[in-house]
Amino acid sequence: MPAIIKPLYMARKFVSSCVRIGETVIDATAGNGHDTLFLAQLVGDQGKVFSFDVQKEAIEKTRQLLERENLIGRVALVLDSHERMPEYVHEPVSVIMFNLGYLPGGDHQIITRPESTIIAVKAGLLLLRPGGIITLMIYTGHEGGKEEKAALFSLCAALNQKQFTVLYYNIINQVNHPPSLLVIEKNH
Ligand SMILES: C[S@@+](CC[C@H](N)C(=O)[O-])C[C@H]1O[C@@H](n2cnc3c(N)ncnc32)[C@H](O)[C@@H]1O
Repeated sequence: MPAIIKPLYMARKFVSSCVRIGETVIDATAGNGHDTLFLAQLVGDQGKVFSFDVQKEAIEKTRQLLERENLIGRVALVLDSHERMPEYVHEPVSVIMFNLGYLPGGDHQIITRPESTIIAVKAGLLLLRPGGIITLMIYTGHEGGKEEKAALFSLCAALNQKQFTVLYYNIINQVNHPPSLLVIEKNH
């Protein structure tokens, strides 16, 4: 096991240390459902995962995975853009996971966009409970990816340090646009 943990697993480490049994959390980009499953396992029987995606195919794949794992009862699947999360989630959440870009194995034209990602993150900041976190897996290899990263950095750099702490985690010697991680914590 290498000492340096890859950004995707680091995101999960942060999430595991934050979520308490029975809490509500959000998967902002359901995709193939892996993060939704991970979150559903963490929140326990009394917890709830709201899982968003704009693609029917992604919502269906997530449903199938969660049904296979007998955890669908903990999940509300939402076929809508994550920028509208406040219309669906009406309680504080401990974690919001974003895995940006396109659906692996799906249509590479359907990607997260800076405008809606920024609206969604701003909405997410208001939903976070104190001590809660937003994790964002960022990809820059596809068209628009660099702009999305830049937009997120300007949003994060402007956050008041008394209210939020922001961490950026990346591998600097990997070829081909490796994914990187932003974590925003709402301070207590
Ligand atoms: C990298 S994939 C997510 C992978 C997923 N977390 C997993 O564990 O399999 C990105 C997903 O974001 C979705 N997406 C794109 N724009 C979106 C939006 N505005 N709101 C919600 N989901 C969106 C895409 O349809 C795609 O399924």
